[in-house]
Amino acid sequence: MTRYRIALVPGDGIGTEVLPPAEAALEAVGRRHGIEFAFDAFDWSCQRYLAEGAMMPADGLDRIRGHDAVLLGAVGWPGVPDHVSLWGLLIPIRREFQQYVNLRPVRVLEGVPSPLRGAGAGDVDLVVVRENVEGEYSEIGGRMGRGTAEELAVQESVFTRRGITRVAEYAYALAEDRGRHVTSATKSNGIVHTMPFWDEVVAEVAARHPGVRSDKEHIDALAAKLVLAPGRFDVIVGSNLFGDILSDLAAAVAGSIGVAPAGNLNPEREFPSMFEPVHGSAPDIAGQGRANPLGAIWSAVLMLDHLGHPEAGAELLAAATGALADGVSTADLGGTADTAGYTRAVLDRIGPPR
Ligand code: NAI
Ligand code: MG
Repeated sequence: MTRYRIALVPGDGIGTEVLPPAEAALEAVGRRHGIEFAFDAFDWSCQRYLAEGAMMPADGLDRIRGHDAVLLGAVGWPGVPDHVSLWGLLIPIRREFQQYVNLRPVRVLEGVPSPLRGAGAGDVDLVVVRENVEGEYSEIGGRMGRGTAEELAVQESVFTRRGITRVAEYAYALAEDRGRHVTSATKSNGIVHTMPFWDEVVAEVAARHPGVRSDKEHIDALAAKLVLAPGRFDVIVGSNLFGDILSDLAAAVAGSIGVAPAGNLNPEREFPSMFEPVHGSAPDIAGQGRANPLGAIWSAVLMLDHLGHPEAGAELLAAATGALADGVSTADLGGTADTAGYTRAVLDRIGPPR
C-alpha cells in the first residue's frame, strides 16, 4: 500500500464544490491500485481574508511543505480584489515551491462540443507548458505621480537563463514522450530584449533534442493558428504571460473552461506540486450544485501521473470521459446532470476494488 498526504485547498465558490468529487474519485481509483490518500483540508480563501485579513496564515506554506501534493479548487470572490487573492495564495505557493512548470493538457473530448467547426473528438491533443515563476508577472516596478496628469507605471519583466532553460527542457522531454514537436511562443520582433533572449535559450535546448521538431511563432500569429488549426500542435512552450493566455484560449477551443486541468509542477520534487482546475470560482453558479467537476477530476489525474501512477490516472480519465461519451454531462456542456450526478457516473465507471 502506497500512502500519500494531500493538502486540499478548496478556496472559494465552486472550488468547494469540485474538490469533493475529485477526492472521491481519487479514493475509488486508489483502492484499485494499492494507493491510500490522507487528505488535510485548509480553509484558505477570500472568506478567510475578509474575516482575518489574510488569505492564509503566516506559516501557511510551512504547513503544506511536507505534503506529497496540493489539490486546489479556485480562489477569488467579489469584494476581494483579484490581485489580493492571487498574490496572497496562489503565487506564493507557486514561487516558494519552485513550481516553475504550469502544465495544461488540452483535448477535444467525445461529448464536449468544440466551438470550432473543424475540431471533433480526437482532433486536438496538445499540451501548453507555461513558465510559472518569472517573466512578465513580476513585482519589480512602480507607480509615480498618482492622480496627476503625469501619472506613470513601470513594470519590468524578468527572464533568466536558468528559468528559460529549465522550462524548455521540460517541454522538450515531454515532447519526446508525445508527438515530438515543440512550438515556442515568442514576440522577438516587438519585444526586443527579453524575447530574443528567450528564443536563443530555447534554441540551445532544442539543439540538445535533435529528435524533436522545433517551431517558433509570434504570439499573435500563434493565437490565430490555435483557432484555425489546433490539430497541428503537440507541445507549446511559452513565457508566464503568453502561456497563460494561450492555455485559456486552447481550453476554450476544446469546448469548456470547466473541463480544463492544470498542474503546477516542481519537476525536481524538492517541494510539493499543486494541481488545480483552470477555471475560477464562478460566482454566477456557485452554491447551486451545477459546477462541472471534470476540470478538478482531470487535475487529480495529473496528480496521479506526477506521483508515478499513470495507470491509475488513465483509468480515472477513462471513467470521466466515458461518462461524457455516454451522454452524462453538466449544463456547461449542454447536459442535464448536476455536479453530484456526473460524479456518480464517473464513480460508477471506476471498477470495484481489486
Ligand atoms: P470563472 O472561470 O470563475 O467563470 C467563467 C465562466 O465559466 C462563468 O460563467 C462560470 O459559470 C463558468 N464556469 C467556470 N468553471 C465552471 C465549471 N467548473 N462548471 C461550469 N461552469 C463553469 O472565471 P471568472 O468569472 O473570470 O472569475 C471568477 C473568480 O475566479 C474571480 O475572482 C477570478 O479572479 C477567480 N479565478 C481564479 C482562478 C484560480 O483560482 N486559478 C482562475 C480564474 C479565475
Ligand atoms: Mg489564466
